[in-house]
Amino acid sequence: MQGKVKRGLSCDGPLCAFGPGDVARVRQGGKLVDEMQDAESLKLELIGAVENASTVDALEELRVSALGRKGRITEMMKGLGALDPDQRREAGQALNRLKDEVATAIDTAKTSMGDAELEARLLQERVDVTLPPRPESRGSIHPITQTIDELTAIFCEMGFTVAEGPHIESDFYNFTALNIPPEHPARQEQDTFYLPPDESGTPRVLRTHTSPVQIRTMQTTTPPIRIIVPGRTFRSDHDATHSPMFHQVEGLVIDKATHMGHLKGCLIDFCRAFFGVDDLPVRFRPSYFPFTEPSAEVDIGCTRAGGEFRIGKGDDWLEILGSGMVHPKVLENCGIDPNEYQGFAFGMGIERIAMLKYGIPDLRPFYDTDIRWLRHYGFVPLDVPTIAGGINR
Ligand code: DAH
Repeated sequence: MQGKVKRGLSCDGPLCAFGPGDVARVRQGGKLVDEMQDAESLKLELIGAVENASTVDALEELRVSALGRKGRITEMMKGLGALDPDQRREAGQALNRLKDEVATAIDTAKTSMGDAELEARLLQERVDVTLPPRPESRGSIHPITQTIDELTAIFCEMGFTVAEGPHIESDFYNFTALNIPPEHPARQEQDTFYLPPDESGTPRVLRTHTSPVQIRTMQTTTPPIRIIVPGRTFRSDHDATHSPMFHQVEGLVIDKATHMGHLKGCLIDFCRAFFGVDDLPVRFRPSYFPFTEPSAEVDIGCTRAGGEFRIGKGDDWLEILGSGMVHPKVLENCGIDPNEYQGFAFGMGIERIAMLKYGIPDLRPFYDTDIRWLRHYGFVPLDVPTIAGGINR
């Protein structure tokens, strides 16, 4: 159904800068005569072929057959070595012109054909957004999306912005820059999915946490910095409470006088707003992460009295996130002077806080695309959480 696209290439077109005189001169080149004899007709043939090609794929095939490693023009250029130096220069220049012009003609054709193909596809796949929705297929928001929306609303109210980074990370960003050198035991704890190195030999992994985005942000942003990074993370771990793909949110604050008090205030406010419990007890427990010093894990109060689990004042604690003051070495790795700037960072699992808040007992259905589960826990599409409109409805 793809129509032929007219590009107006003719014998006056760019290919014709390689004129009959050139071919004649090339042809005088002794041994080269045989190899070059088709140059004139090749030019005409290629013009015709470019004009007749009706898809971008056909043009690509044409490019390979003319200019590829074993292409016809390439083969002709290989023959130049047999000529004496004067003839070689002349014939070489002429062939180079032919090569450039064929390449330009193909590129020009590809661009306009690509546009035409895209236009045709857009027309074919057009969706009428004014049609009324089908009542039986009403969607709902996935609990992970809902949770990300909620925590984003809370942190944005505190002045954070949202940052993102790639799922495929270099070993440097995922580990080394975060003060986790190659032999560090923390590397073993993370059940990393290793990938083949990229073309430059850089070792790559699927990111095991959202912390590498801290590094990317600090490298490219002058403090003050206040970001959260919600996103997918990957670890080779699969059972009732672990999934090889899950979500985390990272937080990072860097400024001149940031201290542990800011970390505590920020995270206490977050926990209370997120779980909707104004007097929620929040506890900071000393811990260890290679990228923070000091480090603390954060627990919230809960109770399991009477066999029922409730978040809020009670006799028990539940760990929900890791945090700490950004390690001076990490700041240095990003070109930030630790004598001038300090900051804090934190990270938490999104599925985990979603399960706690919405009483979801099992991790696996999160990824099952089971519409019944989604209807049970899903949220109304237009219920966008905001601080003013309410986070906990
Ligand atoms: N990256 C850690 C993990 O995946 C979580 C974390 C802990 C992030 C402490 C932080 C932090 O930024 O300060 O387990």
